[in-house]
Amino acid sequence: MFATGFFRWSYANLLKPVLFRMDPEYVHDTFVRIGAWLGKGDWSRSLTAAFFRYEDPSLVQEVCGIRFPNPVGLPAGFDKNARMTGIIPAVGFGFEEIGSVTGEPCAGNPKPRLWRLPKSRALMVHYGLMNDGCEAVAARLKGQRFTIPIGVSVAKTNSPATVDMQAGVADYVKAMRTFVEAGVGDFTVVNISCPNAFGGEPYADSERLDVLLGGIDAVVTAKPIFVKIAADTTMDQLDAILDVLGRHRVDGLVISNLTKRFDAASVDAGEITPDMKGGIGGKPVQTLADDLISHAYRKAGSRYAIIGVGGVFTADDAYEKIRRGASLVQLVTGMIFEGPQIISDINRGIAERLQRDGFATVKDAVGSAHR
Ligand SMILES: Cc1cc2nc3c(=O)[nH]c(=O)nc-3n(C[C@H](O)[C@H](O)[C@H](O)COP(=O)(O)O)c2cc1C
Repeated sequence: MFATGFFRWSYANLLKPVLFRMDPEYVHDTFVRIGAWLGKGDWSRSLTAAFFRYEDPSLVQEVCGIRFPNPVGLPAGFDKNARMTGIIPAVGFGFEEIGSVTGEPCAGNPKPRLWRLPKSRALMVHYGLMNDGCEAVAARLKGQRFTIPIGVSVAKTNSPATVDMQAGVADYVKAMRTFVEAGVGDFTVVNISCPNAFGGEPYADSERLDVLLGGIDAVVTAKPIFVKIAADTTMDQLDAILDVLGRHRVDGLVISNLTKRFDAASVDAGEITPDMKGGIGGKPVQTLADDLISHAYRKAGSRYAIIGVGGVFTADDAYEKIRRGASLVQLVTGMIFEGPQIISDINRGIAERLQRDGFATVKDAVGSAHR
């Protein structure tokens, strides 16, 4: 408690004022480098865990046959090339989703491609699926043992060459198959909602999604498969997606990715400058994701596990997603704005809320808003 309180103060008053003056992508890259280095040593992992990790039996649960030590995970986008898998558990996360990783290596969009929107408590992201490609990332992780579940987010390369549907599906399938054959990862997330890829988000369309998931079905694996949808999905579109998922081997949904609603009330219009483009993560995603989680849980909660993501900055934010139907939650913008101690703060807060509301474990609270 004292350690996280000290870190919270130091981050808010000393570190963040300096970091938020620097180029966001440079800061991100530097943190990935430091995290990768800290993750290599036993002593650095133990020291980090002593500062940050929080454990409580009420937070442990099994979802889709996988044991999660706590429900708070790191979503795709922060550790794109899987360099931080050593340190992420020590920071207190209960699982990590690496990627998104594509079949072929992908340079992403030209810089600048990441901006902070401090008043909106948000980030504008235009990376365009920058990653080393499935072969390099799978080779990096092959043979490693992980202390938390690792999800692999797969997507298609951001290039005119994969706009053709067959080429696009082949790129997704290559990425997934490479990880499955390397024995890397506990679950796959099929990302159909990157707002920054060349050719848009074609697989949000039912017919194309059907073809994509047909390709995914052909990859032989017993491990769970999730589909990640856009924050701007309408309820009708979600119903259509659920219909398609019903015809395939899909175990869950990740709700949601970034929003493209720059004009939403939750976005401070004064912060949007003409050079910015992409999708927004952070607080503007929160209500969009929460409403989609409720809808998906009411319609198909008994069939699909839900990972809720978007605008989680506090234990109340995370608990709300759980009550609406998410078994697991993820956050990235909240960590960048508040500091890494936010993970243990949120886990402690969830455990307190479970006890307050008379739930023995997280699983008992999932979907409780609808009962
Ligand atoms: C810098 C950055 C990069 C991201 N890259 C990806 C990505 O490659 N694949 C993906 O599925 N989501 C990506 N996302 C979306 C996040 O995983 C998450 O869905 C979204 O940011 C909402 O969560 P938040 O409000 O906690 O940021 C990215 C987000 C950020 C901030």
